[in-house]
Amino acid sequence: MKKRLLAGVKPTGDIHIGNYFGALRQMVESQGNYESFVFIADYHALNQIQNPKELQSGILETAKTYLACGIDPEKTVLFRQSDISEVLELMWILNSVAPMGILQRAHAYKDALTKGKSVVAAVFNYPVLMAADILLYDADVVPVGQDQKQHIEITEDIAQSFNHLYGKVFKIPEPFINAQVAVIKGLDGQKMSKSYGNTIKLFETESSLKKKVMSIVTDSKHPDEPKNPETCNIFAFHKLFSGTQLKALEKRYKEGDISYKESKEILFENMKIFLKPLWERKHELDANPTFVEKALMMGAEKARFVAKKKLALVKEKIGIAS
Ligand code: ADP
Ligand code: TRP
Repeated sequence: MKKRLLAGVKPTGDIHIGNYFGALRQMVESQGNYESFVFIADYHALNQIQNPKELQSGILETAKTYLACGIDPEKTVLFRQSDISEVLELMWILNSVAPMGILQRAHAYKDALTKGKSVVAAVFNYPVLMAADILLYDADVVPVGQDQKQHIEITEDIAQSFNHLYGKVFKIPEPFINAQVAVIKGLDGQKMSKSYGNTIKLFETESSLKKKVMSIVTDSKHPDEPKNPETCNIFAFHKLFSGTQLKALEKRYKEGDISYKESKEILFENMKIFLKPLWERKHELDANPTFVEKALMMGAEKARFVAKKKLALVKEKIGIAS
């Protein structure tokens, strides 16, 4: 029996190269080894996106991005969180066992409080909805970035509280933090992140990709000076995109046989080779919204089957017949 992997992604913003190498690629690669469930966490995005058009297009863009990168709807259950309303029922039930103290210690909630803005209840209850996502589908493994680890721990606590009261109903999930994935750096050498404005998006236009590559921050060494590949921001990208040329590039760096400008030009060409097939698939999906919608409906059907069964068991255990 394969273990079940569940990943949730918020439909916010454009996916960048850091998201791709840090998360998305692993989801694509794990399709054969796990029974994979990937969902678009649209209910989780509601406290960030209050514009309906923006949310709607964010959901579809996210679905298309995943499909373009190789998520196969025959192998992965790809679905919208909101298509399975059972998750909201389970969330309420879990609210009745979720300790306030744990939620009050959640980083995201504490950060929101310190920023001094008025905090909506969804920020406070966010981890309970996330627990419902994970427990509804009996996930064994939940791949997350370091920032989400606390949410998995909260899920474990909630599952244990429930199991303690009603018997062993929920599987205790494990977080899966891929330590091998180095932090992908952005144009300025800091961690690539939407919030730092230093990203290269997966679906840039060719001209904007070129502009971004040419703007990668370097020191001011002359073309014929030896350069250290390990501290060079361009070279960090070569490691991701320049495969077989890497050794030769390293040699040229060390021998002072390459300018940063040429290094960027080579990088731009290699990125195009890598990204073009993804761009083409995305383009096809843009032209075929029916395929995307069908894939999401098929995913929802499979997810609903699992969700209904689990919720029925939970309701029976708590004494609310379904
Ligand atoms: P951002 O920092 O741009 O807001 P998110 O927090 O939405 O990105 O991250 C979504 C996923 O992508 C997470 O699994 C996270 O670990 C991964 N990720 C984001 N940025 C990077 C990066 N620079 N390097 C590696 N992985 C990343
Ligand atoms: N909170 C996650 C994030 O911000 C997204 C998410 C929602 C999720 N529900 C989930 C991730 C369940 C894993 C499992 O990235």
